[in-house]
Order: sequence, then C-alpha cells, then structure tokens
Amino acid sequence: MSITIKTAEDIAGMRLACRLASEVLDYIAPHIKPGITTKEIDRLGAECMAAQGTISATVGYQPPGYPPYPGALCTSVNHVVCHGIPNDKPLKKGDIVNVDVTIITKDGWYGDTSRMYLVGECSIAAKRLSALTYDAMWMGIQQVRPGAHLGDIGHAIQKFAEGHGFSVVREFCGHGIGKVFHEEPQVLHYGRPGTLEELKPGMVFTIEPMINAGRREIKEFGNDGWTIVTKDRSLSAQWEHTVLVTETGYEVMTLSADSPPLPAFVTVTAT
Ligand code: MF3
Ligand code: CO
Ligand code: CO
Repeated sequence: MSITIKTAEDIAGMRLACRLASEVLDYIAPHIKPGITTKEIDRLGAECMAAQGTISATVGYQPPGYPPYPGALCTSVNHVVCHGIPNDKPLKKGDIVNVDVTIITKDGWYGDTSRMYLVGECSIAAKRLSALTYDAMWMGIQQVRPGAHLGDIGHAIQKFAEGHGFSVVREFCGHGIGKVFHEEPQVLHYGRPGTLEELKPGMVFTIEPMINAGRREIKEFGNDGWTIVTKDRSLSAQWEHTVLVTETGYEVMTLSADSPPLPAFVTVTAT
C-alpha cells in the first residue's frame, strides 16, 4: 500500500468530515466542568454526532490484538496519555482532559481531532503543558508543504517540546486518514529533518503529539486493553488536527467556530 492522494472531490468530503469532528469538540466544551463524568462527555459527543448524521469511528473499533473500543470518543485525564475509556468518575477542579473525536460522514469520510480542556482552575504546570503541547502541534503543522519531509514535522515537534523540558511519546503517532481511519503514512512526532517520505499535494494526515511533563516512557493501565498512562505518572497532554498538503503549504481541516486561537507564531490556518 502507499499514501493516497486525495482528489478535489475527496478533499470536499474530508473538509466536511473534519469540520463536523471539530464541532463535536465545540459542543462538549461548555459542559466540561468539575463534577461531569467522562461517560457524560461521551454521551454528549454521541448526541452531537446523532444530530449531525455522523457516526463515531471509535465505537467497536478493533485493531488486531485489541478488544473492541467501547466509547464514542476518547477521554484521557491527567497522566493518561491516550485512549482513555469514558467512565463514571467525576472530573475535579485542576484535572486536564484530552477529548479525541473521530467521526464518519454519510459519504464515508473520516475526520479526527482532539483538544485539551482544563477543568476549573488548574496548576501553572498543567496549563503550561497543555499550552506548549498545542504550540508543539502547530510547530509541526507549519512544516507541511510539498517537498518537505515527514521527518521535518517530527523534528520540529521534538525540538520544541524537549527545548521546554518535556518529552515526546514514541509509541503512538499521527496517521494518514481518508475513507480509512488509520492509513499510511505514519507521522512520528520526533525525528530528523529531511528524512522519511516527501510530502505531496493531496496527502491528508493527522498531527497529534503526545507530550509528557516527565519521562517519555508509557505503560498500559489496568486490563481494559486500551488505556495508556505515563510510567512515572507525570501529566501528559495531546492535541490533534487533520491536515491537507496543498500546492503551497497546508490546510488545517479540523477547524470550526470555537477552535482555540492560533499561537502567536502562526498567522494562517491555510497557505
Ligand atoms: N482518535 C485516535 C487517533 O487519533 C484513535 C482512537 S482509537 C480508539 O488516532 F479506539 F481508542 F478510540
Ligand atoms: Co488520529
Ligand atoms: Co484522534
């Protein structure tokens, strides 16, 4: 298999899927307060998808060696790195939570995006980790243009994150996306400039760095087959956008009315 190049028609389908995925994150945002459970967040996400006429890509998702994923979305709290399963434990003031949404439109296109939410007042350390992980994602996005290489993206993210004293999770990466949830290429969030695949117009993939406040090592948590936590129990943050390689640079596809403001060093969402 190789990396799919999306046609103009494919890109129109992806723009819709990606905007709708982002709108699910808009919809749940005002509800994320102390006392809400991640299961209630999941129900809100499912309710929004039903209203959209989309379906969750994660319910029943079962890659080889995994049990079927039970949630309409992923909720990863504090030291949970990714794939947190919604549960009945209420969020409390000072928690940070990543909500990761992947939807499928009627036409079969996938949109995949995640954001961090701060639950009530949070520590300076937690706010800093979330904000700098957001910036790290955008440092990666800004590398995207025809002729650049996947290694440029990983390098930009790694240099930025490690430069702030954080570490980059190695075991999970961004991915091509289209009518398939996870397709080629793998988009590593670390690496060397000029290495790996050369980017071409029409490629679509996610950039979704997982950044730890402490060491980069992770482990499986419990026996649900999904939840990943930091080995040292340090906080972890993640942000995710789906990005198109255009003729001149990039187009961030997973944007909507309430997407967070761009970092100061970013001027445009499409070039
Ligand atoms: N949305 C995740 C990603 O960014 C994948 C979640 S798979 C699940 O690739 F089964 F855990 F939901
Ligand atoms: Co993804
Ligand atoms: Co995702």
